[in-house]
Amino acid sequence: MLLQPRFPFFLHGGDYNPDQWLHVPGTVDEDFRLFPLAGVNSLSVGIFSWAALEPEEGRYEFGWLDDVMDRAAARGMAVVLATPSGAKPAWMAEKYPEVRRMTGDGVHEPAREQQCRRHNHCPTSPVYRAKVRAVNEALASRYGRHPALAFWHVSNEYNGECRCPLCLAAFRDWLRARYGSLEALNEAWWTGFWAHAYSDWSQIACIDDSVDGLVLDWKRFVTHQTADFLRAEAEPLRRLAPGVPVTTNLMGFYEGLDYMRLARELDVVSWDNYPQYHERPGETERLAAMTGLAHDYMRSLKPGRPFLMMESSPGPVNWYHHNRLLRPGQHRLKSLQAVAHGADSVQYFQIRKGRGGSEKFHAAVIDHEGSENTRMFREVAQVGRDLEALRPVLGSVVRPRVALVFDRESDWSQKAAQGPLESIKTGYADTVAAHYRPFWKRGVAVDVVDGDSPLDGYSLVVAPDLFLLRDGFASRVEAFVRGGGTFVATWLTGIVGPTGLCFRGGFPGPLRKVLGVWAEETDYLYDDERNSVEFAAGNRLGVSGSFGTSLVCDVVHAEGAETVATYGRDFYAGTPALTANRFGKGEAWYLATRGDEALLDAFHGALARRLALPRALDAELPEGVSAHLREGEDGARHVFLLNFASAPRAVDLGPAPRRDLLAAGASVSGAVTLPPFGAMVLEDA
Ligand code: GAL
Repeated sequence: MLLQPRFPFFLHGGDYNPDQWLHVPGTVDEDFRLFPLAGVNSLSVGIFSWAALEPEEGRYEFGWLDDVMDRAAARGMAVVLATPSGAKPAWMAEKYPEVRRMTGDGVHEPAREQQCRRHNHCPTSPVYRAKVRAVNEALASRYGRHPALAFWHVSNEYNGECRCPLCLAAFRDWLRARYGSLEALNEAWWTGFWAHAYSDWSQIACIDDSVDGLVLDWKRFVTHQTADFLRAEAEPLRRLAPGVPVTTNLMGFYEGLDYMRLARELDVVSWDNYPQYHERPGETERLAAMTGLAHDYMRSLKPGRPFLMMESSPGPVNWYHHNRLLRPGQHRLKSLQAVAHGADSVQYFQIRKGRGGSEKFHAAVIDHEGSENTRMFREVAQVGRDLEALRPVLGSVVRPRVALVFDRESDWSQKAAQGPLESIKTGYADTVAAHYRPFWKRGVAVDVVDGDSPLDGYSLVVAPDLFLLRDGFASRVEAFVRGGGTFVATWLTGIVGPTGLCFRGGFPGPLRKVLGVWAEETDYLYDDERNSVEFAAGNRLGVSGSFGTSLVCDVVHAEGAETVATYGRDFYAGTPALTANRFGKGEAWYLATRGDEALLDAFHGALARRLALPRALDAELPEGVSAHLREGEDGARHVFLLNFASAPRAVDLGPAPRRDLLAAGASVSGAVTLPPFGAMVLEDA
């Protein structure tokens, strides 16, 4: 499925800011000389250009943008045209203070921010919304039918929140619509606690962190209000330029917004990917899997279609503590990794490096030096050639049979609660990634879902640390398992309902029946403490031996479930650590403790075998190598083999000959060696 049929190629390009260079004649000429040399076919323009587009209220300057759009069109390039709301101009902040955000800690009165930095408007302010609508209408009427226009890039990396009186009033309206009455709200938030009962809506005037239900609803509201702002931003674009897909650049595991919800407002998902691939020796495989999960999460926001990698860096960024150089080949590998997971673009921040401002040391395609003779430029040009060679892959999709539950509301509610263990709360993405790695290592594709997603079509659904259960989730799990699906839940699952109230009647709450267990108590180990998990002889998983575990140990009663492994130590030694419950035609597993990497690997590896989950390549993958399959509507299959290790790795491709698209279609079969950071993209011969 092509995201933009008028531009049937992988977008290769990125953030381009000619408006920062208007005082340096000849820069744009030089850039357009360099673009084809770098294989750049796409420009993301206007992202922070409000002051250049509207230097004074109501006076627009489009000359510089006309020039870029026309030059791009003349060369068949695709422009990703941004709306400028990610940074407001000084004249606006000065004349209309309400457009500036108010921030607060939930205890002290919120304060109005000064005009500074970016990404800090009030999403509720009618003035800001009117100004955004006006500039967006001007952009859409002028460029809506321009031949270079490929996508709308709405704002930039929506994030943060505003606690001004307008936003709090909107929050109260949202609460009124959600709960109907104050009685219902008081009940949902358990406000009998510490005399918090509200007797008038106006009393809900601060984000009080001792009322966890309030905090959870506030976070939902922030997503709601951001989505509402996004919809308002996109309205003139959709009205005046119908058919041009709208996207905004998301940020992977960013916690402040529920992306599953926000993505409903988008035509196309795009995101900004900044893994630090050189961080520490030995960490590469872990980081590669984490990055893979982030790609899969973003792709899953619009299942069954490609996405765009709107930003990545061709070299070191300027904002990690250490910004080491990418080793030769790593830029190419990281770019191909995005494509392997379903991206139909490799885009950068940034194309030309600025001379000033806080990002002047951030890598760019065109360095301060200015020519095509840099290592980074050559590596970018190589990616450009690779993407040309990969054209048969464009528009194809990833079709996983495994779904991993990553639920932002559950994460919020766990964080909003005080206790039970702080170190777990900060590591939700790491917990989910620990369950992802065994599949990643085996070339088994994974989708990411949340507690509202349909589960049909999957063979296996894994829900690690699913603290909050949304309404209807447990009955969907029951239907899924009854119909033959396999479901895995873990420790600290099914603790609270949608407003953060703890379930009565025993954990894991409404999942107790399908899982066939009752988790009566939970032991939180010291960071350096360990327990062990001992597999029962002859268990149905075929795993044997003893494995380590740490941090969380639920003390569980099997209520119909079979005990597959037990704890090795402490007063609960011999009680269930892993159970399996037959339910209808399927099975529901409960892993009561966190489990070391080896345990998760053995467990999920055994499930993958039992369920005969399809793998991208029918081969053992050596450490550091991942394999991914993209499937076309026409039945075409492309297998990506990526070597994240800094040493060569051998893989057995089997006897059937295939073509390697990255090696001019050379025929390959049998044992092959991937060089350090090397890659292959295999097509059936
Ligand atoms: C992104 C942002 C860009 C740029 C980049 C630097 O998060 O969207 O504008 O700041 O980071 O890595």
